[in-house]
Amino acid sequence: MLLKVADVLSKEQVAYCRELMLKAEWADGNITAGYQSAKAKNNLQLPESSPEAHEMGEIIMQALAQSPMFMSAALPLKIFPPLFNCYQGGQSFGVHVDNAIRQVPGTPVKVRTDLSMTLFFSEPDDYDGGELVIEDTYGSHKIKLAAGSMVLYPSTSLHRVTPVTRGRRLASFFWLQSMIASDEKRSILYDMDTAIQSLRQQVDDSPEIIQLTGVYHNLLRQWAQT
Ligand code: NI
Repeated sequence: MLLKVADVLSKEQVAYCRELMLKAEWADGNITAGYQSAKAKNNLQLPESSPEAHEMGEIIMQALAQSPMFMSAALPLKIFPPLFNCYQGGQSFGVHVDNAIRQVPGTPVKVRTDLSMTLFFSEPDDYDGGELVIEDTYGSHKIKLAAGSMVLYPSTSLHRVTPVTRGRRLASFFWLQSMIASDEKRSILYDMDTAIQSLRQQVDDSPEIIQLTGVYHNLLRQWAQT
């Protein structure tokens, strides 16, 4: 499932983070690339040890915890600390697939990358190019969202970032391991949860809604790995 989550961060939070990014020390993006993706990657990145990256990562994690849409769609078990990148002057990232397993730096924690996220920090009008292009069985999707909004997509997808030919594209990218490894099963749970929540708005809790909520949790119980 490819899902856009609008306004994860407020415009104030975006502006604050953008200021931090302008102060921060950037490095070559290949510091976190795998062997295959290193050949395709041409951008700048904040080192994982960067204090600005830590501070912004905390802001993002707190915002995500308060997003019902994100929590319902992702059912996160472990989230890799957000990383930050910058594309400018024609920089791009050729087609690649993200590494399956990521070790959280300085810890023994390994995260299986079930879902990839990109959170945009530049407004679409501030740069040309820089689309995130995601390939799935339904074709190719070009993603360029408002600052503060995020896209969530299966880490199994081939994807790339087209060259930024004007301005600067600032973004955060990171991964998570879901309690539900299967994208298909996770999509079923998300559809069901969304339908139940919507029914709840329309009618008072009926026995049927309570029963459906039970079915949701029983499926989650059967499928979840924690
Ligand atoms: Ni990638």
